[in-house]
Parts: sequence; structure tokens; C-alpha cells
Amino acid sequence: QRVDWDVSMSEKDGYPHYMAKEIHEQGAVLRSTLKGRLLEGSVDLGDGVNWTPDFLGSLRRIHLVACGTSYYACLVAERVLERWTTLDVKVDIASEYRYRDVRIGADTLAVFVSQSGETADTLAAQRKVRAMGGRCLGITNVRGSTLAREVHDLLLLKAGPEIGVAATKTFMGQLGALYLLALKLGWDRGDLNPAEAERLASILLKLPYEVERVLERESEVKKAAETFFGFDNFLFLGRGFSYPIAMEGALKLKEISYVHAEAYAAGEMKHGPIALLEPNVPVMVVIPKDGLYEKTLSNVQEARARRSPVVAVASDGDDLICQMADTVIRIPRCDECFSPFLSVIPLQMFAYHVALLRGREIDQPRNLAKSVTVE
Ligand code: G6P
Repeated sequence: QRVDWDVSMSEKDGYPHYMAKEIHEQGAVLRSTLKGRLLEGSVDLGDGVNWTPDFLGSLRRIHLVACGTSYYACLVAERVLERWTTLDVKVDIASEYRYRDVRIGADTLAVFVSQSGETADTLAAQRKVRAMGGRCLGITNVRGSTLAREVHDLLLLKAGPEIGVAATKTFMGQLGALYLLALKLGWDRGDLNPAEAERLASILLKLPYEVERVLERESEVKKAAETFFGFDNFLFLGRGFSYPIAMEGALKLKEISYVHAEAYAAGEMKHGPIALLEPNVPVMVVIPKDGLYEKTLSNVQEARARRSPVVAVASDGDDLICQMADTVIRIPRCDECFSPFLSVIPLQMFAYHVALLRGREIDQPRNLAKSVTVE
């Protein structure tokens, strides 16, 4: 009798790859990120963050700087910070930000997000802001990393070691940490009305359960991957909170399956990518039931009219999407600010299953490193 099991699988809790294990840890990661942070009437970011009420009140600008998947977490955070605070928000890739003529003052908080805390461009950007007199917050998964040691304030993720090169559970942890930051700023500065802040906090607390509900639905995603793994080009679309998730989904597919995937803001499709659409180019659309749903739906119709196969990540109970999409992957309904926590999971799983079907080295994709310590 053949046994499909070896010792290394015990380190992976029985999963064939670290990536699969790490995807399935995301409910627990989010729970530990939020644990002890949400208090009556405020958010406690822990001992590493030392801001006075005067400092918080004087803030006007917030800059979020990162690379890769961490950058996409920042793009989600940009949208939530704009909604929950009155701050001006700027987000940039560290390798661009470090060479730009950015304005930094005493009214600016700069946030550097890095899973490893060792990414060379992110560290250089942090040093630049520090030299200009800005206040620096680091969000990292590695205690004792260079970023953790150099910043003024530190928010440590509690995601545990991530072995797969493609970031998954640390993205979930980063989203949790960035939402806590946005809620704290909104609450403590009085930008959010207290009843609304309480409501948002209670949604955040229940989110790990919703994440776990999505993790149980892997078979739907696997089926979609079996249908679509042979295609060589994909267009990923989303609007609002779903646009950075489309970008992260396309990145995951590129990284581990080596399939070309391009992400576009759905409304921008008509300015170029629509020329690529044909039956050989599937469209993966992230379309939860939110304020921009109808707008995205009209983009789905445009893709269908060009006979592109459509895979939709859509909310439970949305029947209309079944008439428009060839394949529908469901996520639970939720307040629109929180959909990224749920919609990213099917995209991670889709990339995983496509890579598996294509026989790729899932945990160690070619040419990629877990942490990029050179410029
Ligand atoms: C590399 C990794 C990515 C990661 C990026 C940023 O490209 O392969 O998974 O998102 O670096 O890394 P950081 O450690 O700064 O989050």
C-alpha cells in the first residue's frame, strides 16, 4: 500500500504545502491580531505605540509605504482611512516613495508595512522620513527585525512564521492591524461618531468567524481552478475596496502559477484592456454587494459581450450575478468596508489550485525570494 505522506507534512499540519496551511490559518491569525485590542471606547495598539492625544489631534496626513503584497494591504487601508478619518492619505510603493520629493512635517504619520521587516526599499523609505523629522510607525511580523528596531512606534503582527514565499496569512494580519489603526485614529481624533465606531469594532470582532466560513468553501474554488487552469492570460477587475484585492489576486496567480494576470480598476477597462478581451481571456471579477456593485456589473456585461469567460467572487444571495458570470464563487455578505478580508481568500485559493494543476513549485516559486534585502 502506498502512503502519500512524509515527515515534512507534519510541519505542515498535514497540508501538502505551507501555502495551503497558511491560507487555512487566516481565521486564527485575524483573531490573534485583534485579541485584546478593542476596548470600550477605543483601540489599544499595544506597548509599542506611544502617541499622545495632542499628537493624534495635530495629525493632518498619513503616508503608507510598502512593497508587494504589503503594498496592496496599504491600498485597502487607504480606502478605510479615508472613510473613517479626516486625514489626507497617500500610499506608495517604497522603491518610488524613497526617491520622490514628498512633503513630511510634524503633522505627518508615516506607516511602513513589511512582513519581514527587512525589505531594503521599505527600510530606506523609513530612514528618509525619519531624517526629515516625520513620525514612523512600523507594522511587521518579525520581532527584532531591522524595521522593528528602527521605527518610533511598532505594531507587531501575531501571524506566526510564514514559510511560503507568497504572502497569505500575513496579508490577513496586516489588514487586521491597519483596520485597528484606522479605527483608533477615527475614534481618538473624534473623526468617527462613537456609536459608529462601536458598530465598526463589533463587526471587526466577528470577522474571524466570517473568514473561517470562507475557508470552508475551498471546493467551489477548486472547481473553478479545474475549469480555468489552462488559460494563459487573465484580467482581474474590481472597484473601490475590491480593486486592491483584484491586484493581490493577480499577483498571487503570477507569483506561483506563472500565469499572466493583470489587474485593472473595473471602470478603467474601457481605456485599454477591453481590447484584449476574447474567449481565451477570462475575467476574474471581485464583485461583493456594495455601493459600487451596479457599476461593476456593467463592466461584467461589457466583458461578456466580448465573449470572455467570467469568474465572479460575489456575495451570498446575489442571484443576478449568476446570469452574467460563467462561474460564481460565494463569500458571505458583509458591511462593504470589510469585504477585502473575505474576498481575498478565494483568490489565494484559486492561485494555489491553478499552480497545483500546472505542477508548479508552490512554496518556492522561481526567481522569487521571501524577503528582498537588496535594492
Ligand atoms: C517579496 C515577497 C512578497 C512580499 C514582498 C514584500 O517580494 O516575495 O511576498 O509581499 O517581498 O515583503 P515584506 O516583507 O516587506 O512585506
